[in-house]
Amino acid sequence: MSALLLVENLCCGYKQMEVLHSVSLEVGQGEIVALVGANGAGKSTLLNTITGIVPTWSGRISYENTPISSRPTRDIVRMGLAVVPERRQLFGSMSVEENLMIGAYARPDRPTNRTLRDNMEEVFELFPKLRERRRQLAQSMSGGEQQMTAIARALMAKPRLLLLDEPSLGLAPLIVDQIMEQIVKLRAGGCTLLLVEQNARLALSVSDRAYVVETGNIPLSGRASDLLDNETVRDAYLGGRNDSTDSMEDRIRAKASMLPHPHRAAADGRVPA
Ligand SMILES: Nc1ncnc2c1ncn2[C@@H]1O[C@H](COP(=O)(O)OP(=O)(O)OP(=O)(O)O)[C@@H](O)[C@H]1O
Ligand SMILES: [Mg+2]
Repeated sequence: MSALLLVENLCCGYKQMEVLHSVSLEVGQGEIVALVGANGAGKSTLLNTITGIVPTWSGRISYENTPISSRPTRDIVRMGLAVVPERRQLFGSMSVEENLMIGAYARPDRPTNRTLRDNMEEVFELFPKLRERRRQLAQSMSGGEQQMTAIARALMAKPRLLLLDEPSLGLAPLIVDQIMEQIVKLRAGGCTLLLVEQNARLALSVSDRAYVVETGNIPLSGRASDLLDNETVRDAYLGGRNDSTDSMEDRIRAKASMLPHPHRAAADGRVPA
């Protein structure tokens, strides 16, 4: 596996506050890699440092073996790396179509109108709802539709590596499923993905590998399937025992068996304390 993105001993932060303390990770060509961790752990900071929005203090970031740490964001995006920012950050008073066209400005080539139309058709294939709503103002779209627009806008730049910051944030489970399905489809289409998610179970279920980010460090990483089974990860990020093999009914029963039981007490003659 060749590393498409390599982050080595990265330190960065804001003013005097160091947020990431010598963080290292890699993303291989064709992988879906997840970053999971609590609020404030430094996940968005890591994505923003990769794209040059937050400056690197020390360490090295390379994309396709080329150092990118000191490059402006515009150049990094032109190299084939696009980001879907946390909370979408669409241009609310512009239409869906106009938002998508803005995404196309980051393309390295000078696309013709015909290429752009084809490009837009490709993203509409992934998100058919956006075709219907192409003339609607972004701010009047539902949360799920806005998230789809934000992903579609990033795809208009024809990225080879897509960084997604919390795509499930604030969305209903059905919409989250649709978005995750499209993320998996994007990989099938040749795109590599680095996915930040607070919903660790969701992230681990769609990714190949994952890194746990904790107060600016990466204490744990590995195959997503191994992390799903890892007791520390389960206790800290997955709400304890694995829900997929443990029904709600079982959990309620287990809890109930720990409580004093009046009927059982009556049957064996003891009174519960
Ligand atoms: N622009 C900023 N200026 C100053 N401090 C910041 C800035 N952005 C983030 N921070 C701080 O950096 C730390 C890491 O924040 P970051 O947004 O990277 O966390 P996160 O893991 O993405 O959290 P969340 O899951 O809530 O999105 C936090 O302590 C946060 O307050
Ligand atoms: Mg964040």
